[in-house]
Amino acid sequence: MTAVMRAATSALAALLTTIALALAPSAADASEHKVEPRIVGGSQVGSIAEVPWQVLVWVESPDSQFRLYCGGSVVSPSRIATAAHCVVDDDGEVVPASWVTVYAGSTNWFGFKQVRDAAAVSPHPGYSTETYAYDAAVIELEEPLTLGPGVQPIELAETDPPVGAMLQVSGWGTTTAYHPEEDNPGDSPDDLMAVLVPLWDAEDCKDVYGIYFSELLHLCAGEAGKDSCQGDSGGPLVHHAAGGPRLVGIVSAGAGCAWPNLPGIYTRVTAVREFLLSAPAVGASAPPPPTPVPSQPPAPVEPWAADEDACAEDDSGCRRDGASPQVKVLKAACAGSTCRVEVSVTDAAPSSGIYRVSGTVHTSFKAKCGRRRAARKCAKTASRRMSVQRRSGGRYRLTARGLRRGTHEIRIIATDRAGNRSRAVAVTRKSR
Ligand code: ARG
Repeated sequence: MTAVMRAATSALAALLTTIALALAPSAADASEHKVEPRIVGGSQVGSIAEVPWQVLVWVESPDSQFRLYCGGSVVSPSRIATAAHCVVDDDGEVVPASWVTVYAGSTNWFGFKQVRDAAAVSPHPGYSTETYAYDAAVIELEEPLTLGPGVQPIELAETDPPVGAMLQVSGWGTTTAYHPEEDNPGDSPDDLMAVLVPLWDAEDCKDVYGIYFSELLHLCAGEAGKDSCQGDSGGPLVHHAAGGPRLVGIVSAGAGCAWPNLPGIYTRVTAVREFLLSAPAVGASAPPPPTPVPSQPPAPVEPWAADEDACAEDDSGCRRDGASPQVKVLKAACAGSTCRVEVSVTDAAPSSGIYRVSGTVHTSFKAKCGRRRAARKCAKTASRRMSVQRRSGGRYRLTARGLRRGTHEIRIIATDRAGNRSRAVAVTRKSR
C-alpha cells in the first residue's frame, strides 16, 4: 500500500462514520454576495431551472439529536434518489420516513418552493456501511412534487459516460478543499453550487481507493481543486449528453475533498438503475418511530419551509407588504451550556404582522472522529432550536439549553405574514 493510498483509505474509513454534514448552512449572510469557489471549485447555479432535478434532503429526528442534510435527485414526481448513507445510521438502521423532508424548487436554502414529507425510505438492499457498496436509496414522497421549470425529473443513464467526460455535480455541501488527514475547514453555502469534474478511468481509481472502489458499483470523478464535498452526498452527478441530461452517479464518498489524485466516489447509476426505478417502499411497513413524550407541540418547521398560506388567514396587509421585518440583536450571551438572545423585531408599514420568530444555535466543537482507536479530532457542528418567548414591544427572548462547549453561532429568523423574512446572526466566543 502506498502512502497516499493508506491516507486515502483510512480517511475513507473515518468518512464512513461521518455521514453527511450534520449541520445547517453557514453564517454567510445571504446579503453579502461573495463570489468564492464553492461545492469545491465550482460556481453558484444561477437558477434552479438549470438543474431542476436537484433537491435538498433533510433528515432530523424528533429530538434533533440526529440531524443532517444531503442532496437528492428527482426521478419522478413522487420519487427521489439519494445516497443510502443519508438515511441509514451508523448501526445500519434505516431512519423512519417521518424524519425525512424533501425541499425543492430553489437554489437558495431560504427559498424552497415545495416541501414534501417522505412516505417511505428504501436504502438499496446491498448497501454496506463498511464499504459503501450500493450507496443508493429511494425516498417516496407522501405527495408528488408539482413539476415546473424549477422541478423536473432527470432520466437515469443506461450507459456510462466515456472516461474523461466532464460531469456536473451540484449541491449545498462544503466548499473548501482539504487533505484527508486534516479537518474539513468548509463552510456550507446558502446557494446551490455546481462544478464540472472529469470521469476517471476505473483502474486508476482502484489504485487510489482499493476496496472502497469497485468498477461495477462506482464511478470516480474529480480533479485537484474540483470535487463534491461533505453535504453534497446523495446529490446528482450528471452527464449532459447529446440526448439530454442523464443521471450517471450519486455523490457517495471520497478522501478529503478536491485534493490532487483523490477523486470523489459516486454510486454508479447504471448498477442501481432498476432499484431506483422500482424500489419497493420498504419504509412504509417499518415500525413507527419511537414516539417522544410530547411535552410541547412540535416545533414549527424551519422558516425556509416558506409558508405561503400565512397570508390566507389575513390578507389585509399581505399583498402590499414587500418589506422584510427588521431583526436587531439587543443582547446575546452564552454561559455554561445556555445561550440567551434578546432581539427586537419590527416590520415596516404596510405590515402584515410578524408571523414567526425562530432561532437556532449552531455550536462548533472538536470531537473524536472515525472508528479507529487512534481517532483524530474533527470539527463538528451541533444544532439546537431555541425556545422563543414573546415579550412586550416587539421584543423576543430566545433561549437554548444543554449546549456543548464550543463556539456558538446563533441564527435568528423573523418572518412576516406575507412571507418576507430576514435573518440576524450573532457569534459568541467559546463557552467556558
Ligand atoms: N460523504 C459525503 C457526504 O455525506 C460526500 C463526500 C464526497 N467527497 C468527495 N471528496 N467527493 O456528504
